[in-house]
Amino acid sequence: MSVLVIAVDGPAASGKSTLAARIARHYGLPFLDTGLLYRAVARELLDRGLDPQDEAAAARLAAALQPEDIDPARLHGEGVGELASKVAALAAVREALVPLQRQFASRPPGAVLAGRDIGTVICPEACVKLYVTASREERARRRCEQLRRRGEAPIYARVLEELEARDRRDSERAVAPLRAAPDALVLDTTDMDAEAAFRAACAFIDRRLAERPGCGHPRSSEQPLQP
Ligand code: C5P
Repeated sequence: MSVLVIAVDGPAASGKSTLAARIARHYGLPFLDTGLLYRAVARELLDRGLDPQDEAAAARLAAALQPEDIDPARLHGEGVGELASKVAALAAVREALVPLQRQFASRPPGAVLAGRDIGTVICPEACVKLYVTASREERARRRCEQLRRRGEAPIYARVLEELEARDRRDSERAVAPLRAAPDALVLDTTDMDAEAAFRAACAFIDRRLAERPGCGHPRSSEQPLQP
C-alpha cells in the first residue's frame, strides 16, 4: 500500500499546525506536530535542571522520547518554545529525533507532519509539501490573540521581537534550517483567514493527488470539502 505524506513547514505562529491538523482530519491521516518533540526535550531539560546546551544529555532525552509521553498542555509556554528553538539547533538532538518522525510518516496510509524541515530533511520524498507563512507583524498579532485567549496580557512589541529572534535562529542554524522546499507550495496567509488557507491547501493537495496517483489514496478524498 502506498503512503500519502503531507509535509507542512513554516515559521513560528504562521498557523501551520492548526492548518496541518485540519488537513489531517480532512484526509483521514494521523497528524504529528513535530515542534512538540523539540518542546518536550526542552521541557525535560528544564524539569531535570540540566544545562540546555548539554548536547549529549539533550540528545539522550530526544532518543528516549515516545510520542505517547508528550503532553501538549505542558509544552505551549513561550519559554519552552524559546528553549526548544535553542535545543533544535543542536545537531545530535535533530539526528536523534529523525527515526521517530520517519517511522510515523512511513506507516500506511501515511501522515501529515508539521514542522520546519519536514519537506527538506525528514520526508524529502513527501508527495505534498506546503510552506505556510505570513508577515512577521501578522504572525505577532495572531500570537498575541492566542495568548490573550489563554488569559495572558501580551505586549505586541515584545512578541514581535521574540518572533524575530526565533525566525533568525531557526533559519540561520547550520543544521536543517527553516526554508521552503523547492517543490513546496508557498502559502502566504497574511491576508487569508483560516478557511481560505484550508481551501487553498486542499485545492493544491487534490491537484497533486490527481497528478501523482501513486501517492496514496486518502480515505476521504471523495468527500466534500469540510472540516
Ligand atoms: O513549531 P513550534 O514553535 O512548536 O516549534 C518549537 C521550536 O522547535 C521551533 O522554534 C524550532 O526551532 C523547533 N523545530 C524544529 N524543527 C521542527 C519543528 C520544530 O527545529 N521540525
